[in-house]
Amino acid sequence: CITRHYKFNITPHNVTRLCNTKSILSVNGKFPGPRLVAREGDQVLVKVVNHVPNNVSLHWHGIRQLRSGWYDGPAYITQCPIQTGQTYTYNFTITGQRGTLFWHAHISWLRSTLHGPIIILPKHNESYPFDKPYKEVPIIFGEWWNVDTEAVINQSLQTGAGPNVSDAYTINGLPGPLYNCSSNDTFTLKVKPGKTYLLRLINAAMNDELFFSIANHSLTVVEADAVYIKPFTTDVIVITPGQTTNVLLKTKPHLPNSSFFMMASPYFTGMGTFDNSTVAAILHYQNPSSKTKTQIPNFPLLKPTLPPINATSVVFNFTQKLKSLASPKFPANVPQTVNKQFFFTVGLRTIPCRSNATCQGPNGTKFAASVNNVSFSLPSIAMLQSHFFGQSSGVYSSDFPANPPFVFNYTGSPPNNTMVSNGTKAVVLGFNTSVELILQDTSILGAESHPLHLHGFNFFVVGQGFGNYDPVKDPSGFNLADPVERNTVGVPSGGWIAIRFLADNPGVWLMHCHFEVHTSWGLRMAWIVLDGPLPNQKLPPPPSDLPMC
Ligand code: C2O
Repeated sequence: CITRHYKFNITPHNVTRLCNTKSILSVNGKFPGPRLVAREGDQVLVKVVNHVPNNVSLHWHGIRQLRSGWYDGPAYITQCPIQTGQTYTYNFTITGQRGTLFWHAHISWLRSTLHGPIIILPKHNESYPFDKPYKEVPIIFGEWWNVDTEAVINQSLQTGAGPNVSDAYTINGLPGPLYNCSSNDTFTLKVKPGKTYLLRLINAAMNDELFFSIANHSLTVVEADAVYIKPFTTDVIVITPGQTTNVLLKTKPHLPNSSFFMMASPYFTGMGTFDNSTVAAILHYQNPSSKTKTQIPNFPLLKPTLPPINATSVVFNFTQKLKSLASPKFPANVPQTVNKQFFFTVGLRTIPCRSNATCQGPNGTKFAASVNNVSFSLPSIAMLQSHFFGQSSGVYSSDFPANPPFVFNYTGSPPNNTMVSNGTKAVVLGFNTSVELILQDTSILGAESHPLHLHGFNFFVVGQGFGNYDPVKDPSGFNLADPVERNTVGVPSGGWIAIRFLADNPGVWLMHCHFEVHTSWGLRMAWIVLDGPLPNQKLPPPPSDLPMC
């Protein structure tokens, strides 16, 4: 194992898409940002220097950060932001993970342009549990706004209305030829016939779950959130913001100089406006014998069939197929017993307007999002600092409720809107507590799926269903043998999900909806895991360059 050094300069950078030029925040002038490549077991040092006026903080999404919580990155949770002119060196070791993850800014909406792939290769002299691919290609999905995304979220927070939607989806930063003024901004994957390619899919979009498909080709899913799964073949991939999925693409034997569209479109069931557009990239077969420059044929190319926007059954069927590999070499260490159970409702509300506020949400209200009806407010000092030094007073409280403040009934009348409260609340867990958490979509404003992401842990998705979770009947159907292990899961639209994880990582860990707008509205909470008794079960003190508020 080695130490890998990266330097990430946060700089402004002009980017033109859809005939519109704007200045974005970038890492090293790249959009999407640079790849971080390491092997399992390596130590990674990323020196981040902030050259822009904004406060910045970076998160290594899905990296477990075992006893390195100071480097997890969410602003005001594990660190104060890196201010203009400041430097912070993230320092973590990749333990027990291999596959695809991604890094992104974790403050306000800066992740719309500050993101890039994390590629974790197996250890030297270890191989994949599938055929060695001929080539590996990151495919990163994003959203493009012609306007500044900070203005988009600030306006939503000020008015209480939904934010403007993006102007395009992107594949590797490019919207593709189906948008106006965009045909030159098309990602093209050049392939050779009869080879296997590993596509590392990353959904870095802000607010949309996506379907992805390639015309005339099936894909074999081999990995989710940097954990191997039992391979299965499908025509359509479902990927929520925060999820990563590795798929094998086998190219056909003899198709020289032909091209196919690969496209992504949104899955959406909620209320409000959304970007219902389609991004396209091109899969192009090179002629293996010719050395001449590739000719991409004129449009139209064959398009894949993507599911309709509200195709919940496609999403359900896809997620049901994801199972841990659960082999002797890669076992699924599912907690078989549970020490603590939690039932969290997640969803949107409209809340009444305070006098003298502007509320341009539905019927003069304001949108809010909550977990167990608590809408999370960010503290002004990082929670991990306050926790570590025993100074939580005035920063956060440890009384996050284990259940919602009402008996939840999906089919009954929705609970009163006034039950939403603001707070900075955490659940405190003893070291090595085995946790079972039911996440129930409240569907109070129309059923909507929520991609819930947990920092600091992988969890096992032991069950999912529609309607009300039934604590008597549903647990008997839980899969405790080979459930998928991941860090982000879509709570089904109008349904529930059951997850289990072992709280073996001391620190303060955010859990939130990876729809950025829902996070901004408060759909987040924090877990605090206490130190264990042994020296290697404790969080070390913070580094000397930890940014201060
Ligand atoms: Cu990918 Cu808390 O985020």
